[in-house]
Amino acid sequence: MSSVHVVDHPLMQHKLTYVRSQDTTTDNFRRLVREIAAMLAYEVTRDLPTELIDIQTPVAAMRSPVISGKKLCLVSILRAGNGMLDGMIDLLPGARVGHIGLFRDPTTLEPIEYYLKLPEDIQERTVIVVDPMLATGNSAVAALHRLKEAGVTSLKMVCMIGSPEGVKALTEAHPDVSLTLAAIDDHLNDHGYIVPGLGDAGDRIFGTK
Ligand code: URA
Repeated sequence: MSSVHVVDHPLMQHKLTYVRSQDTTTDNFRRLVREIAAMLAYEVTRDLPTELIDIQTPVAAMRSPVISGKKLCLVSILRAGNGMLDGMIDLLPGARVGHIGLFRDPTTLEPIEYYLKLPEDIQERTVIVVDPMLATGNSAVAALHRLKEAGVTSLKMVCMIGSPEGVKALTEAHPDVSLTLAAIDDHLNDHGYIVPGLGDAGDRIFGTK
């Protein structure tokens, strides 16, 4: 049974508004994506297990919680996923980072992998896959299949904005993967853009348009 969590917080809504606006400059867009990604990192790690350790404060001894269980790995779906990495790493500085690149075969329309670099011990880690826009869901679905093939058993998906179509595709293909987003928008248009969305996330992060 998959879980879908939309982060509903005034700060998130405020930052999303400005990240969506076509008047936002490239430098502000990058900063906002980083801040939104950090808030999503906070939410997606909400259920991590903790254990108590003994410490000494300047005043007293105490038992205090630290994160326990599997170590973390972030996997960015190229190229727009890279825009979310810094914000996630701000909160998760010890996480390893993998990358996966996929393109769509023009005849079969199937996602083809053109790049994959993952930590060697990835199957022992909880993996958080990041991609700002969950549009058709095809790339995310394929990336999650690939990570399962690599032996990963604990997976979470984090996006900024999803379409209803992408959320449905992902949750049907991977009911075991939790999905955390800042918003689910109205629909996908005929060009594969999320409406109202924010346009092409990769182009806006890297200033290529
Ligand atoms: N990818 C984007 O960057 N934006 C969309 O709206 C859909 C896919």
